[in-house]
Amino acid sequence: MTKMLGAGDPPTVLPLAESAVLDEVEPLPQAAVEGDRSRPLRGCFVTGTDTEVGKTTVSAGLLHALAQQGLRVAGYKPVAAGAVWKLAASDPEGHWYNDDVEALHAASSIELTRGEVCPCLLEEACAPHLAARLEGGRIEPALLIAGAHQLMPRCDVLVVEGAGGFCVPLVESPEFSEAPALPEVTIAAPTDSDWGTDDLAVALDLPVILVVGLRLGCINHALLTAEAVAARGLRLAGWVANRIEPTMPHAQLNIDTLARALRRRHEAPLLGVVSYRAPATAAGVAEDLDIGAVLGALNLRA
Ligand SMILES: Nc1ncnc2c1ncn2[C@@H]1O[C@H](COP(=O)(O)OP(=O)(O)O)[C@@H](O)[C@H]1O
Ligand SMILES: [Mg+2]
Repeated sequence: MTKMLGAGDPPTVLPLAESAVLDEVEPLPQAAVEGDRSRPLRGCFVTGTDTEVGKTTVSAGLLHALAQQGLRVAGYKPVAAGAVWKLAASDPEGHWYNDDVEALHAASSIELTRGEVCPCLLEEACAPHLAARLEGGRIEPALLIAGAHQLMPRCDVLVVEGAGGFCVPLVESPEFSEAPALPEVTIAAPTDSDWGTDDLAVALDLPVILVVGLRLGCINHALLTAEAVAARGLRLAGWVANRIEPTMPHAQLNIDTLARALRRRHEAPLLGVVSYRAPATAAGVAEDLDIGAVLGALNLRA
């Protein structure tokens, strides 16, 4: 099933059976393609120790905090899995609804369509490459990369939220090897291998912010993720401790351990400890972030 996220938006997945379908995809705007060549992206790639650890919550908080600094900010969720069709009095035509897309859309300070926030929205709430397969399609890396470059000329900072953890596959090799590249958009991945969230981060070449959902096991997950980020040649710009469990025992000791290890091994500073709050609003989370540290980590200081 191929969904449209709004008039004029590109298809979210490409049918597997019709590899020639790329001919039918709307051509990328010239500005996006030129943007690929002339302007590096500014912002960050937000990853997490797992799914459901607070990537969206912290991304929205980052957008809010950066917007408070007078920066034009845009949230970008290249791939989201789990969508329902919703109608509302304010939106009688309806749209495909996904929590992450709504949160990033709402926290962006520039006008964006939902299709710009998320060029690949999949209906099934499961691993993205499987959701795409279940819809009879595959994820197109070039669209994900181009979508980011398309937003960049209109904002100062792009906050990109990855899908799941850092090594989540997006395209499996048999599918990927069949995928023709869109002209003029470079895909920084070999065509004979899998392609995933880590490859997307490399292609976007953004500093990484790691959200650590504080619960038992998070130290190991955080250190493994940091190793994976470094192994891909990306800079771990900092990390955020997120209190997703209000009663986690020894939370502060876990934070202290990680703060030491991530600084020593990766020179990655702690950018904030987000307290448990219900609801975890963007404005509330922004208060818990050390905006000076965030600006420094992302090289955004004036
Ligand atoms: N600091 C927090 N306090 C309370 N609830 C939180 C906090 N951070 C995240 N949550 C909740 O945990 C769930 C998962 O968070 P989310 O940001 O969607 O994670 P991810 O993007 O990593 O999947 C959501 O229901 C969110 O509201
Ligand atoms: Mg999310």
